[in-house]
Formats: sequence, structure tokens, C-alpha cells
Amino acid sequence: MTDALVMGQRPGLFDRLAQQPADALLAIIGLVNADPREDKIDLGVGVYKDAAGNTPILRAVKAAEKILLDTQETKTYLGSEGDVRFVALMKEMAFGAARARDERIVGLQTPGGCGALRLGAELIKATGSDARIFVGQPTWPNHVPLIGSVGLPFVDYPYYDKAAKAVTFDRMMDALEDAKAGDVVLLHGCCHNPTGADLSLDQWKAIAALVSERGLVPFIDFAYQGLGHGLEADAEGARLVVDAAEQALVAHSNDKNFGLYRERTGSLFVKGADAEQAKVIASNLTVMARTSWSMPPDHGAAIVRVVLDTPELAADWHAELKEMCARIRSLRSRIAASDPRLAYVEEQNGMFSMLPLSAEAITDLRTTESIYLAGSGRFNVAGLSDHNVDRFAAAVAKRL
Ligand SMILES: Cc1ncc(COP(=O)(O)O)c(C=O)c1O
Repeated sequence: MTDALVMGQRPGLFDRLAQQPADALLAIIGLVNADPREDKIDLGVGVYKDAAGNTPILRAVKAAEKILLDTQETKTYLGSEGDVRFVALMKEMAFGAARARDERIVGLQTPGGCGALRLGAELIKATGSDARIFVGQPTWPNHVPLIGSVGLPFVDYPYYDKAAKAVTFDRMMDALEDAKAGDVVLLHGCCHNPTGADLSLDQWKAIAALVSERGLVPFIDFAYQGLGHGLEADAEGARLVVDAAEQALVAHSNDKNFGLYRERTGSLFVKGADAEQAKVIASNLTVMARTSWSMPPDHGAAIVRVVLDTPELAADWHAELKEMCARIRSLRSRIAASDPRLAYVEEQNGMFSMLPLSAEAITDLRTTESIYLAGSGRFNVAGLSDHNVDRFAAAVAKRL
């Protein structure tokens, strides 16, 4: 028998793999690229864009890269925790100066917010408990696949009513009544993706009370700190809930607030019941990082560290972050002013909002108006610019 025949008959390792569907949001990129119309508006992918429609490298980031190029002397391994100074800076950014000294909270650098979510999920799984993950609907489409990939079970809670254009807080709290001690509640720290609708401070307080009373474990996805109302204001709710909880997880990302997307810059923080337990948690996280990506990519974290440790660069970054926020706020105000039915857009935060449009209307926006948004009605506010925001608002209003 020839080798070819034997190979044809023998089952191959990969024969049983099934084709996977393409990512729906990435598919929109293909549609936008294939559209020849010059006035097309791409509101699909979730990256910040400036008034010219570009996603530029921030000035402070470029300056830090120059410093690194000139002064970095080695690329030797750092260790599974990543850049320890970066992690300390992020602990302070996420939790504030006082909690940054709290030994019950331990952290390590991860490949972006996704790496932090994944590692957090693995830590929960490793406890061997029967914890369930309570997840708001709608949520970021990658949450359930990413956290679920380690085999954790989910329970939905209603978060937002698209038609009513509002957070369904009472229904959310009712659903959380079913959570038992040790169950995990996934929350968006700020700038909710995909809706832009955040909890009010009073609502955060109510969740903090529930978490503390019932022994629930908040898992806060904090991917947009600073893009809502500023670094401190955006952290208020998350800090209240972490304070109230005996144990908690926070997945933090700098990919949006430093515009570092592909550099994969994030960190995971976990609060243990006491400093001793936190040490055990830290040792588990280190082993888990070591046995998955071994060490996180360095460049993004090194940039963030250099920016924040260089006063002029830190000041410039703060100014750039404010500029991004102000641009998003001004676009939100223009949309809100265009039609009373869109007034809600102004009250929301971050890059995203969700339009109460039917699937047909979303397809019609693409084909007739060259306006591209996600099938859920989510659109990236920052994808608009001064010269097309009115055309966008009018096209949407016609289809509401
Ligand atoms: C809600 C949410 N969480 C986490 C992430 C992951 O961020 P990163 O690119 O840092 O992995 C994103 C990115 O789009 C996000 O929108």
C-alpha cells in the first residue's frame, strides 16, 4: 500500500474540528472595507477615533516609546507577574491611593483585559466551588465565551431594556436575589459595553449592600476607566462594591485609556478575605499565568509605567484622556439634541450606545446610508465626527 493511501484511510487528528462562525463585529470591518462610498460611517469596531477618523498613538505614548528605545537595556524575562511597578501603578489607578496599600488586594499584569478576565475565570474554577457567574443581559459578546471557556456556569440577569433605553435595575436586583454566598456577579466598572448605560452611585450602593449581606463575589470588568467622567469618578462604584465585598476580582485594561489596543496591556486584581489568603491567591495566579502565557507582553505595560512615572508625560496623558472624553461627550450632546427620542444618549458614558432599531433598520442603514453598526444596535460614538454626526442622527431618527 502506498503512503498516500494509508494517509487517506487513517483518521487525522484535526478531522473532527468543525468550522467556527466568523466574529460578527470583525465581519463588519469586511463590509465597511468593501463599501466604495466615500461618506461611509464605520461605527462597528470599538476603538476610539479622533475627529479625522483615525486611531492615533497618543503623544505621551509616543514619547514613552522614545524613552524606552533610548534607555531600555535588556529584554530579559521579567517573570509571570509582569512589570511589578506597572501593577502597583494600576492598583492605585483602579482602587485609589489608600486601597493601593491594602494587602488583601493582590494583582499581576495580564495580556489585556481579556487575559485578566480569563485568568480570573481560571482562579474561580480552580477553587473547585460550584460558583455560578451572574451575567447581565446584554453584555460584551466576548464575556460568556471567554469566562465560560474554563467551564463555569452562567445565570443571566436583566440589565438593560433596549426599547425603554434604560437600565432595568429593579429586575436586576430581583434576579440577584437568587445568588447564593460564593456566587460571582459580573459587573462593568464604567462605560458599559454595549449599552453605555452605567449604574448610578445609589444603584452601586444597593449592589454593595447586597454583595456584603449575601457574601457574593463581584467580578468587575474595568476596561474603560477614564473614558466616562474621568479616572476617579469612573472608579467610584467599583470601589464601593470592592470595599463591601469580602472577596472580589477586578479585570483592568489600559488598552482603551492609553490607546494601546494591540499591545495587550492589562492587569488582574483579586481581593482575599485577609492578607494571608491574598498571598495564597497571588501564588495561584502566578502559577496559572506561568502555565498559560508564561509572561505577559512587556511593551504596553512599560509604556504606561514610563508615562505615569514621568510627570510631564503623565500630565500630557491626563490632558489627552480628557480630550477623548470631551470629544465623546460633545458627540453625545449633538446626537441627543437632534431628536428627543435620542436624548438618552447624552446621559450615557464611554464609547458605546445602543439604538432601539430593528434588524431590518440596521441592514437598511448599511445598504442605503453606508452607516455600519453592530447587529445589536450598538454603535461606537467615537466613530462619528463633526461633519457626519448630523447625517447619522437624521438617518437613525427616520428609522426609530
Ligand atoms: C467590556 C470589555 N471588557 C474587556 C475588554 C478587553 O479589553 P482588552 O483589549 O484589553 O483585552 C473589552 C474590549 O473591547 C471590553 O469592551
